[in-house]
Amino acid sequence: MRYPEDVVEEVRARNDIVDVISSYVHLQKKGSNYFGLCPFHNEKSPSFSVSPQKQIYYCFGCGAGGNVISFIQNYENYTFPEAVKLLAERAGITLPEVTYSEEARKREDLKTELLKVNKEAGKFYYYQLRNESGKTAMQYLKNRGLEDETIRKFGLGFARTGQDLLYRYLKDQGFRDELLKICGIFTYDEKRGVTDKFWSRVIFPIMDVNHRIIGFGGRTMGEAKPKYLNSPETPVFDKGRNLYGLNHARTSRKKNMILCEGYMDVIAMHQAGFTQAVASLGTAFTSGQANLLKRYTEEVLLTYDSDEAGIKAALRAIPILKEAGLTGRVIDLKPYKDPDEFIKNLGAEEFEKRIENAENSFFYEIRMLERDYDLKDPQGKTGFAEATAKKILRLKSRSSGTITSKPSRINTV
Ligand code: UTP
Ligand code: MN
Repeated sequence: MRYPEDVVEEVRARNDIVDVISSYVHLQKKGSNYFGLCPFHNEKSPSFSVSPQKQIYYCFGCGAGGNVISFIQNYENYTFPEAVKLLAERAGITLPEVTYSEEARKREDLKTELLKVNKEAGKFYYYQLRNESGKTAMQYLKNRGLEDETIRKFGLGFARTGQDLLYRYLKDQGFRDELLKICGIFTYDEKRGVTDKFWSRVIFPIMDVNHRIIGFGGRTMGEAKPKYLNSPETPVFDKGRNLYGLNHARTSRKKNMILCEGYMDVIAMHQAGFTQAVASLGTAFTSGQANLLKRYTEEVLLTYDSDEAGIKAALRAIPILKEAGLTGRVIDLKPYKDPDEFIKNLGAEEFEKRIENAENSFFYEIRMLERDYDLKDPQGKTGFAEATAKKILRLKSRSSGTITSKPSRINTV
């Protein structure tokens, strides 16, 4: 997709760089330029400058620089067309339509409609949590240590008990059955008619990087099974290419991303200040998700549960990270099960220490491998040595690029 040169120029001209950057960085005028703390590296005194005359920015500290479009690309991790689109909208410029085939247009229209359904459903749940019928659900969330601000930030909601409360609400809004049939939050049954998928559950809306609701997870507040019920994949909900919390994490400006197992983990982490936390969506971590993370970071810290299932999940995720060119490290949560419980018991400072001491994923793999062998037995010892050697060989052949670009980390191996 390419926008014509003159359109790009118009977008640039109609977005004053000082205005745009001011909404991200606190700027102060000094002489004819503006200065602020650079958003692209850590600093305590402002060396980031913006020139209204030249319509460019430049950081004397890290050398980052460019025009208003490249600022948005770098800050938001957007592609060029995405940045142009954002700025065009900001300035009220209508971009020329990208031409779609008839079929592609239909698909796009369907997605737009589905996103509308999700948005309305999300609102419905959101208000249910906040009215009288949502009292116990709100209490449940509070008991789990969530603050009002956190509950709001993640758009949490509640689905109360009822056959078709949401269905009737959406029908009243004029949504067609054709659409409601495929949005994944209703069950159509010939005998029983239409029923809501979520009953008596706390609702976690799942959003894409642009804060659009693409699906839902619902947690029981009691012992009902399953503990979490997730809406199925739909044309807007691709579980392998989205991550819970990434809409917030992508602008966290931390030097890594933290991959957790659960929604509650992500939320607890954000509340504790670890705004770089994300989780997969009730399914195993995929290469699509690794590539998504690669757009925002070089290093991923794994905080999978410290039980056997968590270890397995970590061992599966590590090669996927490597394949995408990401460095992986594993956070030790012991004696707690997951980040949520860890933070609740030991607090953010202790967690920060665990981040610092997170183990290189290669060491972790070797350590886990070791458990499969009896090292007191000579045969076991040889077996372990051979398996380790195999791993090292694979590491060498696969990541020769990594060795040159990340010497400090690999030298310790
Ligand atoms: P966990 O069972 O580890 O739960 O599931 P949790 O995250 O600690 O949840 P809380 O603290 O008890 O509320 C981790 C993730 O696995 C998926 C969900 O995405 C959940 O966040 N999951 C779990 C399901 O999809 N279905 C289930 O029945 C359970
Ligand atoms: Mn938990």
